Amino acid sequence: MKVDPVILAIESSCDETAAAVIRGRMLLSDEIVSSAEIQAKYGGVVPEIASRAHTDAIGEVVSRALRAANVGCAELDAVAVTYGAGLLGALLVGLSFAKGLAYALNIPLIGVNHIRGHLAAAYLEDESLKPPFVTLLASGGHTAILFTKTEREFEILGGTRDDAAGEAFDKIARVLSLPYPGGPQIEALARKGKNVVPMPKMLKGQGGYDFSYSGLKTHIINYVHTMSQKGVAWSREDVACSFQHAALDILVEKTVEAAREKGCGTVTAGGGVVANGYLRESLSSACAAAGLKLVLPSKRRCTDNAAMIAAEALVQYRAQNFAPLTLNAAPSIPLNRCSVSE
Ligand code: KG4
Ligand code: ZN
Repeated sequence: MKVDPVILAIESSCDETAAAVIRGRMLLSDEIVSSAEIQAKYGGVVPEIASRAHTDAIGEVVSRALRAANVGCAELDAVAVTYGAGLLGALLVGLSFAKGLAYALNIPLIGVNHIRGHLAAAYLEDESLKPPFVTLLASGGHTAILFTKTEREFEILGGTRDDAAGEAFDKIARVLSLPYPGGPQIEALARKGKNVVPMPKMLKGQGGYDFSYSGLKTHIINYVHTMSQKGVAWSREDVACSFQHAALDILVEKTVEAAREKGCGTVTAGGGVVANGYLRESLSSACAAAGLKLVLPSKRRCTDNAAMIAAEALVQYRAQNFAPLTLNAAPSIPLNRCSVSE
């Protein structure tokens, strides 16, 4: 086993086809092709369209990643791939490609849990990052606060009881007639608005480290309907801004509180919602005020990418945690599952 293996990582769980190459913790390339523009026409990700787009893109994306890294197939020590969670057909495109490559090159296959990839993105940001740390994970499918004790072991301190934060952004975007994906659209609209529309308290000051977004969603739908029915003018910008504050402030508050309670000095974050500029600024100031070190992956590494899959693959490689070529795609896997054999 090599200390600094060269790993090709492939990601195709949703609407991004991505490939990256790392040598140890050094990222050599990071390529991505998104079908989000096509999906926007349908107001969300259509699984069949996503699978076809992956099929069209995967060969080229992998070649580009190898070329940009200046690495030949013969130099690869392992091939890693997201095997779940995600859309079955989409996952199968990346998984089949990775299995074929691993078999042809006679090198190990590493199956990566997508969510653990989001968590590992922070390792690429700061090479010296070591557990313990508290992580805010906020994506389209998950919202949770995690306490990482060792590279392979973490505790879930709390999570959403209903919708994920990203899902809430996507649903509210639809209410405001904004296209998919909702997060960046709401962020842009919110910049032009004010935080003046009253919002529910959600689980502020209660529910431990849990979150709930369904009440916030219903509140906004009711607000928009009532105002429209009464013929009262309302501002889309103000609704976007007030929603963004309500949805994100609670994430910041509970993350900082969890780091304080755990007595660990480092906070990390990951997942598409962490690409939000307002969240990044408020988490940075809250951590600075609390004397906590914050390791924030770049915006590109928060939304789906293969570099984060490579970062998690390195952890699995060092633990000699390889997958059989019979590995199947798993549309949903528990957040804390680390090894494909668990
Ligand atoms: O991590 P990700 O790319 O895919 C999943 O694993 O789910 O997260 C996608 C989610 C979407 O719900 C999207 O609306 C949200 O992240 N998102 C954002 C922003 N960029 C992406 N939410 C808020 N603000 C953003 N700038
Ligand atoms: Zn993701």
